[in-house]
Amino acid sequence: MQSRVLIASVALTWVVCACGKKEEAAAPQTAAPTAETPAATPPTAPTAETPANPLVAAGEAEFRTVCAVCHGQKAEGMGNYPRLAGQGSEAIRSKLLDYRAGKQMGPLTAIMAATAKNLSDEDIEALAAYIATLAQ
Ligand code: HEC
Repeated sequence: MQSRVLIASVALTWVVCACGKKEEAAAPQTAAPTAETPAATPPTAPTAETPANPLVAAGEAEFRTVCAVCHGQKAEGMGNYPRLAGQGSEAIRSKLLDYRAGKQMGPLTAIMAATAKNLSDEDIEALAAYIATLAQ
C-alpha cells in the first residue's frame, strides 16, 4: 500500500517534472525570437565602441572629406601641414575660430584660412570633438 502511494507520488512528480520541462522547453522557443532581436542590436554595438557620439561621427565624416587631404587621414600631419592629432578639442576649436576670423596664425595662414572660412560653428564643434579623439 505504502509502496503504491510512493509509486503514485513518484509518477506524479515525474508528470509534474515533465510538464515543467515542457514549459521550460517551450520557453527557449518563445525566447528565440527575442534572441534574434539582440542579434539585430550588434550594428549599434560597434558604433557604441566608436564613441557613439553623433558630434564625433559628424566631425569624422567632415574631417575625412575636407581636412584629411592636407592634414593626413589620422591628422598626423604632412610636410607643411601641421599635425592635429593629440591636440585637445579646445585648442582645435580656438585655432579654427581664429583662422575663420582671418587672424594671422602661422606662415601658411592663407591656405588654412581658405578652408576655415567655409566652416560653420557646428562644423567647428564637430571637428574639434573628433580631432580630440585621435591618438597623441
Ligand atoms: C589645403 C590644405 C588644408 C586643408 C584642406 C585644411 N588645412 Fe588645416 N592647415 C593647413 C595649413 C597649411 C596649416 C598651417 C597654417 C599656418 O601656417 O598657420 C593648417 C593649420 C591648421 C590648424 C592649426 C594647427 C596648429 O597646431 O597650429 C588646425 C587646427 C587645422 N589646420 C585644422 C583643419 C581642419 C579641421 C581642416 C578641415 C576642415 C583643415 N585644417 C583643412 C592646411 C590645410
